[in-house]
Amino acid sequence: MKENDINKSVADSLEMDTGMLPFVPELLKGMWALGSSPERVVELLRPLGLDPAGTKLLDLGCGKGAVSVTVAHALGFRAVGIDACEVFLEEARQKAAEWGVTQKCSFELEDLREYVKEASDFDVVVFASLGGLLGDYHKLVGALRRTVRPGGYILIDDGFLQREKPVKRAGYGHYTPHAQTLKQLFAHGDTLVKETLTIEESKNINQEYLAIIKQNAKVLLENRPELEDRVAEYIRGQETECEILDAHITGAIWLLRRSPAKP
Ligand SMILES: C[S@@+](CC[C@H](N)C(=O)[O-])C[C@H]1O[C@@H](n2cnc3c(N)ncnc32)[C@H](O)[C@@H]1O
Repeated sequence: MKENDINKSVADSLEMDTGMLPFVPELLKGMWALGSSPERVVELLRPLGLDPAGTKLLDLGCGKGAVSVTVAHALGFRAVGIDACEVFLEEARQKAAEWGVTQKCSFELEDLREYVKEASDFDVVVFASLGGLLGDYHKLVGALRRTVRPGGYILIDDGFLQREKPVKRAGYGHYTPHAQTLKQLFAHGDTLVKETLTIEESKNINQEYLAIIKQNAKVLLENRPELEDRVAEYIRGQETECEILDAHITGAIWLLRRSPAKP
């Protein structure tokens, strides 16, 4: 992994400057899921009736492992979590131990952009709260569907533009209005199992995170007052992010089934 490039990718995904990365453990303390709704993922996967012992889930950009651990615990699947941030992976392993699913989960330090080129034969792939990391929805599904077997499942937790007008902000380039989003999602011949809109839930999650981050920032500044300006800038960025998401993006989770035919 090229360190600068991977640090930028991690920082972008957390909407922060790379200079703030050393303070991530303090700033995101007390948060497990970092944007996703693990219970929603379980709710969507449970009705598929997949064999618990034989099902293998790939959790890309797994962060602290909230989706992997919750699914392994609730549904008995094996889970492989991939992330480029070692401190998150350590926490993910701890959580797996706490929840008694260490044997079912493995967490690996990898650049997911490279990992998806080699991965195959998973039964389910989850791409949650990672924005445009793998490009627009057409490119994203193209990359994800190769990681699962024909007939396997692709779960994307993100959203779409509420109106036609694009949002001119870094990290929003992949968003399109609903109809266009669906067109891109199905361009490879896969089918929709379920679409769940997460409007209120996304709003609440964002507000809840903001409150925790602000509290964590206070504690951090007690020990490191010299960080005041940088922390204030980060918090402002988070506030703006929440406002823009609320005003322009409808949160959605899509569960797709990869076409059973081999390409
Ligand atoms: C917003 S968090 C979402 C984490 C997790 N999916 C969840 O919802 O709890 C984004 C995650 O992507 C990871 N990430 C960003 N770029 C990455 C890359 N190129 N390869 C692997 N992980 C990456 C970050 O380290 C972070 O854990």
